[in-house]
This record gives sequence, structure tokens and C-alpha cells, in this order.
Amino acid sequence: MKPRVIIHTAMSLDGRITNFPADLELYYSLAAQWNPDAILFGSGTVLAAVRDNPALAVPPEHEEMFTPPAGQPDPRPLLVIADSRGQVRCWDAIRKWPYMRDVLAICSRATPKEYQNYLKERHIGTIITGGERVDMREALEALNREHGVKTLRIDSGGTLNSVLLHAGLVDEVSVLIHPVIAGGKAVPTLCDPGQAGITGLQIHLVHKSTEVLKDGIVWSQYAVDGAEPVPVQ
Ligand SMILES: NC(=O)c1ccc[n+]([C@@H]2O[C@H](COP(=O)([O-])OP(=O)(O)OC[C@H]3O[C@@H](n4cnc5c(N)ncnc54)[C@H](OP(=O)(O)O)[C@@H]3O)[C@@H](O)[C@H]2O)c1
Repeated sequence: MKPRVIIHTAMSLDGRITNFPADLELYYSLAAQWNPDAILFGSGTVLAAVRDNPALAVPPEHEEMFTPPAGQPDPRPLLVIADSRGQVRCWDAIRKWPYMRDVLAICSRATPKEYQNYLKERHIGTIITGGERVDMREALEALNREHGVKTLRIDSGGTLNSVLLHAGLVDEVSVLIHPVIAGGKAVPTLCDPGQAGITGLQIHLVHKSTEVLKDGIVWSQYAVDGAEPVPVQ
């Protein structure tokens, strides 16, 4: 069984998910309402965070940091990163973030052994599934089966969103539309199938609710009705 999967994205009026000042306080306060058991990051999102904050990439490492938390049951979510190519090297810094109970990597059989050992040495739990890239359906089922994840919030860019939408794994889409036209490059947007090698994708949604929140930010929630590949024009 897979978890309930919710994509939650802050975007500009023109569909951009970067290049504008998103209201992160509002984003995270709304995100908490689903009470997710885990949050899934794409490696691209983590690498972008490192680019914005290089201190993340060069943290001091010591054994204590990699000791998995023990003791009382911890209600905070698990933070999961999909990283088949072994690019994320700031796990110790991420583990210090206060709003999660632990971290977990999702890799594929093509993930370099050196990186798998790197994770093992740091006591970072790992799910290995898929050949070249992660098989997201299997990964989500493993999250449910092995880690008790019933609700999963996606905090990723358009690439991983597309992979999940294309595989029919997403139940809900929540967008926080900011009153700004961000312009800039064509990507990233909420859904960038080309970045994941998917040639076309159209997702049908059912509107659930829309509210105007502070500063004219519009929060709309949708249920996913179905995904179908569409040919590129
Ligand atoms: N505004 C918002 O709410 C919001 C939220 C999150 C992120 N962002 C922004 O989004 C940007 C990053 O977006 P992004 O699209 O570049 O990266 P991303 O979606 O965060 O990361 C790409 C992910 O897709 C996976 N992937 C690619 N092709 C795949 C395939 N065929 N099968 C399975 N998995 C596949 C990659 O896995 P591998 O690593 O295994 O290759 C990676 O985990 C950043 O600038 C970030 O700030 C904005």
C-alpha cells in the first residue's frame, strides 16, 4: 500500500516555483495541517538549498551527529531524499534541522557503492529500489511498509512532481499562489516532465477549495482525478 501523497507548492501567478519571495511561514504553517509522517525532497531541491546556503555543504561532521535518535516516540516527520546519483552530501546538516525526527535516503541499484557506503557509515537508513533511477511506486510502498508512512508531503521541484504525477502516485495538489509574476526562465515550474525524460503529461484535477489568505495569497487545493501521457506538440 502506498501513503496518501500531497504535493504542496508555493508558486507565482505565472506558475514559477522560484525567483520570487515565497511566504515560507505561511507555506509551512499550512503544510503542518496534514500532519505528514514523512516529507519527500527531490535531490534538486536539496542541491538548490545548498547553492543558496553554501554553509550547508561544509558542516563539521562528528560521530554523535550520525547517531540515530532514540528514546520516546517522536511525532515529527521523517525527512526523505530521493538521490540515486549520490549528490546530496550534507546529511549531517540536514539531520540538525529541528522539525524532523530522522532522515532517510532513497537510492537505486545504479547508485554508486561509494555513496551507499557513505550513507551506511553515517547510519542513514536507505531504501534501494529501481534500476537506473528510483522506482517511486516501490519506494512509496516501502515507506509505508517499513517506516509506517501513511501520509507523505512532497516538497520538491517540477521534476520529481512530474515523476510522481506520471506514475499516478499523487492524491492531492495544494498550491499557494502568490500575487507576483516572477518571469525568468521557463523552469522550474510545478510540473516539468521534460526534466524527468517524460515526453508529455496532462493531469486532471478536481477542485476542492480556494481561500484568499493574507497579502492576497490564494490557497487552492485539488484532488488528482487522473494522469495521462500526452504527445509533445
Ligand atoms: N516553491 C516551492 O514550493 C518549491 C518546493 C520545492 C522545491 N522548489 C524549487 O524547485 C527547484 C528544484 O526542482 P527540480 O525539478 O530541479 O528538482 P527536484 O524535483 O527537487 O529533484 C529532482 C528529483 O527527480 C528525480 N528524478 C528525475 N528523473 C527521474 C526519473 N526518471 N525517475 C525517478 N526519479 C527521477 C531525481 O532523482 P535522482 O536524484 O535520483 O536523479 C531527483 O530526486 C529548486 O530551485 C527548489 O528551490 C520550490
